[in-house]
Formats: sequence, C-alpha cells, structure tokens
Amino acid sequence: MTARTYFIRTFGCQMNEHDSERAAGVLEMMGYRRADDPETAGLVLFNTCAIRENADNKLYGQLSHLKPLKLADPQKTIVVGGCLAQKDQGELAKRAPWVDVVYGTHNMGRLPELLAAADSAAVPVVEILEHTEMFPSALPARREVRHHAWVSISIGCNNACTFCIVPLLRGPEKSRKLGEVVAEVRALVDDGVTEVTLLGQNVNSYGRDLVALDPGDGPRNRTRFAELLHALGEVDGLERVRFTSPHPKDFTSDVFAAMRDVPNVCEQLHLPLQSGSDRILRRMQRSYRSSRFLDLVTEARETIPGVAISTDIIVGFPGETEDDFGDTLRVTKLAAFDSAFTFEYSKRPGTAAVEFDGHLDPQVVGERYRRLTDLTRRLSAASNARQVGTVQQILIEGPSKTDAQRMSGRTRGNRLVHVGRTAAAVPAALLHAEITSAASFYLLGRVTDAPARPAVPGPLPTVAQ
Ligand code: SAH
Ligand code: SF4
Ligand code: F3S
Repeated sequence: MTARTYFIRTFGCQMNEHDSERAAGVLEMMGYRRADDPETAGLVLFNTCAIRENADNKLYGQLSHLKPLKLADPQKTIVVGGCLAQKDQGELAKRAPWVDVVYGTHNMGRLPELLAAADSAAVPVVEILEHTEMFPSALPARREVRHHAWVSISIGCNNACTFCIVPLLRGPEKSRKLGEVVAEVRALVDDGVTEVTLLGQNVNSYGRDLVALDPGDGPRNRTRFAELLHALGEVDGLERVRFTSPHPKDFTSDVFAAMRDVPNVCEQLHLPLQSGSDRILRRMQRSYRSSRFLDLVTEARETIPGVAISTDIIVGFPGETEDDFGDTLRVTKLAAFDSAFTFEYSKRPGTAAVEFDGHLDPQVVGERYRRLTDLTRRLSAASNARQVGTVQQILIEGPSKTDAQRMSGRTRGNRLVHVGRTAAAVPAALLHAEITSAASFYLLGRVTDAPARPAVPGPLPTVAQ
C-alpha cells in the first residue's frame, strides 16, 4: 500500500531544507504521512538546487532512478520543485516525462491544487510563476528536529553577483515584518525549540524594504537586522540564535555589537569572501575589496571574543590569473578562517559571467582548488587545536554518525564536538564539555560540570603556504 505517503529529497542550501519542511507541512495537512524511502512512498518530491552544474547533473541522475519505479507503479506521484525546476521550467518535464508535477520557487503553496490537477492529467502539470504568491512561512512546517528551527527573515536577493543564478530563481529581496518573525520564533520556543537559524540570501540587508514603507520607532542608527537580533534576545527560553548569510558589503558595526551584547546570539559568523583579488571581486560585482573584508574580520574578532568565522570561496572565476589566486590564498591566510566552503567556478546559464572571456581550463581550476582546500583544511585544524583545554557550552544533536559510542553536539561557534555517552547527553541537552583533542573538522570532549573556560586570547593561527 503506497498511497498517501510521501518522501522528500532535498538538494542545495538551508533555504531549501526549510522549504522542504514547508512542503512536508502542506502534504501532512493533506493527510499524507511520511515514508522512509522513495521506493515505498506513494509520492516522491525532489526539492532541487541549481547553484552549480553538478547540482543539475545530480538531479537528472536521481530522477532517472525514479523512472522504473513509476513504470512499475503508475499510481506513484513524482513531484519536482524548487530552484532547478524554476530554471528548467517545461524542459524538465520533457527530459523526465515520467514526472507528474513541476513547480518553482514561488508557488509551493499551490501544491494541493497542482496534485489535484495531476490526478486527471495525461501529461506532467507544470506551473512556474515569476513572482512569489505568499511567503513560504505562511505554510505549515513539519520540522525534522525538535530543538532547532530555520526561520526565514527574507526571500530573494537584490544583488547581481555575476557568477550567481539565485536572483534569477528566487526574485528580488522581500523581508518579513519584524513582528511576524519574532512571533514565529516565540511560537517555536513554545513548541520546544531552543535554537533558531535566521535565513536569507543577504540577512544583513534585512528590512531595508520595510524601512522604506515604515521608518519604525527603533533606535536611530540601528539597522533592522540588528534590531531583530536585539528583539530575539528578549525571547525567554531561546538559547541560541544563528544567521546565514550576511554580505560583507552590508556589514554594519551594530550587528557586531549585537553579537557581543545579546547573550543568545552565537559567536559564529559566515562571511563569504568569494575571492581575495580586488580585480576578480570587481568582475564578480562584489562591491567590497579585500582590505575592507580583512577590516571586517578584524573588527569581528576584536568585538566578539572567540568568534568563529566561516566563508565561501570560488576558485577559477573567468579571468583569474595565478596572481589573483595568490591573493585569494593570501587573504584566506590573513583572515585565518575557522572553516571554509570552497567551490570550483561553475557556468550558470543566464548569469553575466558566462559571457566573460578568460574561462579557465578545468585542470588549472582543479589544481588551484586542491591548493586552496589544503590551506583551508590546515587553518581549520589550527583553529580547532586552539579549542583543546577550553570548556564550552554544547547543544547535543544526536548520536555520532561515525562512532556509536559517542554523542555529537555543536559549540556556540558551531564546531562539531563528539562526547562520550552520559545520562545527560541526550538530544537537545545544553551541557558543558571540556575539549580534549582536535582534528581538522571535529573536536573530542568530555561532559563536565565545570564552568565555561574560553580559549586564551592569543595570535591567530598561522600556517605555512
Ligand atoms: N547569498 C549567499 C550565497 C548563496 S550561494 C551569499 O551571498 O553569501 C552559496 C555559495 O555558492 C556562494 O557564496 C558562492 O561561493 C557559491 N556559488 C554561487 N554561484 C556559484 C557558481 N556559479 N560557481 C561556483 N560557486 C558558486
Ligand atoms: Fe548570489 Fe550574490 Fe545574491 Fe549571494 S548576494 S545570492 S552570491 S547574487
Ligand atoms: Fe539554495 Fe541552490 Fe536555490 S543554493 S537558493 S537551493 S539554487
């Protein structure tokens, strides 16, 4: 019996994870129940991503695995939604005609109507809109984890980074009202949530569109984003607030001050560099320059004791010379990132960079990529090594994925810590752990009653080139 059960596979970023929770909420409202795998589910939904070319390939590969399932059971419903669906539109149904419904980034709320239409249609039902009908936040959510929630504060992006397809797929930036965000967070806390991650393509430009409509009565000289962090600091029972991603060009000191002054805002900052070369940053249409970026890193480290800084870096942007790449290595070392997400440049149809000259040989890109990841891995290892001997608050997430004898949690800086199993180390528990050893991408520790003991301030890690 496969009917009225669903399985969702999510590709891409945290916004997509969150959208999938909303899609699951809509399906459960319609009476669907969750299935454990695509084989047994009556409805399979792929929530797709188009950020890089391999995301496209992955999706079409996975869709082809569904074809025999659909042939064996024509009652099975196959739904494809999200960013790649928005990008490929009707093309997707042509390449994978065994799908039943295709929807985009703006109309997830129409899932019930689209499924009803598919019931009587002989060909795939495709609906792609150009504008958002309603904030996905207006839909019910089915969360995977009880203590953590994603909270969307804005959708879309008003920037035009020349490599990036997101603005074409998610439209212009629209912020939710501050009161609505706070009300959602309060309701989540009432439901057992202790940690939220605020989501937006550009969280620190949050609210500019609202200010234009209503200047509000918040303190002068404070951005709406900083105001939001302060407001969330007032929510009783909310232990941790994180956010992703801020844009370096929009960074204001009031946000650093809020990260220092509001106790539940975690000492974690994701600050995407993209390139350390000013020439490439200009070609990318990223309006900050490397010196401004490094000033921000310094200000963050001076203002927020113990802050952990992560970044995104693209290697092999069209026209990148060995000197430009050398600048990326140099800035990466100076910033001493605690962790980094690194990407090989990928051509995205419809973006400006596709038309640029100087596209690089993949072998050159691959070789630079290996040099960069070698550096960022060593920086992560050095940053983690500095944590040994500290006592930090950790929020237990669940059993370790690699060692059944251990439980895993996250520090406020978002570092992964594995601790031995104890009666107290249960999911959602906030405990202290003494860090006993460090590897590149995780820490080992033991649960303790000792109070927090931060790292001794000292010089940032330096690593050989
Ligand atoms: N709005 C976020 C980023 C969203 S995309 C921000 O501005 O920080 C996440 C990351 O994917 C980007 O930071 C970038 O490093 C990478 N990315 C985006 N487009 C890419 C492309 N065409 N090729 C390679 N990496 C890309
Ligand atoms: Fe893409 Fe740039 Fe917008 Fe981020 S800020 S989503 S990289 S266009
Ligand atoms: Fe996210 Fe991928 Fe879309 S990164 S916004 S799901 S293109």
